[in-house]
Amino acid sequence: MSKIIDGKAVAAQVKERIKAEAAQLKEQGIEIGLAVVIVGDDPASKVYVRNKKRACEEVGFNSYEYALPEDTTEEQLLELVKKLNADDKVNGILVQLPLPKHLDDKVIINNILPEKDVDAFHPVNVGKIMIGNYSFLPCTPAGVMELIASTGTEIAGKECVVIGRSNIVGKPQAMLLLHKNGTVTICHSKTKNLKEVCRRADILVAAVGRAKMITSDYIKEGAVVIDVGMNRDENGKLCGDVDFDDCKDKASFITPVPGGVGPMTIAMLMQNTLTAAKVKHGIM
Ligand code: GUN
Repeated sequence: MSKIIDGKAVAAQVKERIKAEAAQLKEQGIEIGLAVVIVGDDPASKVYVRNKKRACEEVGFNSYEYALPEDTTEEQLLELVKKLNADDKVNGILVQLPLPKHLDDKVIINNILPEKDVDAFHPVNVGKIMIGNYSFLPCTPAGVMELIASTGTEIAGKECVVIGRSNIVGKPQAMLLLHKNGTVTICHSKTKNLKEVCRRADILVAAVGRAKMITSDYIKEGAVVIDVGMNRDENGKLCGDVDFDDCKDKASFITPVPGGVGPMTIAMLMQNTLTAAKVKHGIM
């Protein structure tokens, strides 16, 4: 097995399984729909939304895209969210973040029905993750767990270090590793001796947002290194938080950027949308 974890290949396997299940459901008259809402013209968001739409096509879901102008008011956006909450064809609702500054993402997320919140950002879903009783997992941490599983690495009893404490990645990531009985440390900008803490990790998940910050001196020999970062290097090239070339010989497994965690995030969004449909129809 290669030590470079091929996120594209693992994502393709996940999507194949989802596609087969979606086809089976269609035979029973159940169609699956994902609504994706984008406000404004952020170029990166537009690319993400296009990729999500494409993934829906790949797995046989219906996708409904709502592209709203930059000056959309909170009232208008909430009106759309409420319409989608009530729409039987829509199993999942995703409002692409970041929203323009005048819109409060918390207000919007709180108004998405938890059973359609395929990002798992709603406080109800966040709480369910905390107690280990969940339907949806946030897409990026869930994708990371699939990538670790693909290496055959046992998590129970291992030292797991997560760098970053965001609500979207760091915190839920730590919780998922804890659910698998890892011994989990969360590091952040105030952590002392970051390098020493990281060097204890059997499994290191980097979600810092700083290009190539994690060099080989942060890594224990044989560690599994998962890079959630999505940055540009000094030449404008896409890169992660981990200095891949410097770390690849020391790690037992390592994800590249691009082609590691990124493709998994969208695959897990498809997984959550399928789950939403199955829960709605009492299949799980
Ligand atoms: N913007 C960047 N990543 C995400 C994501 O996972 N979900 C949403 N809704 N917006 C994002």
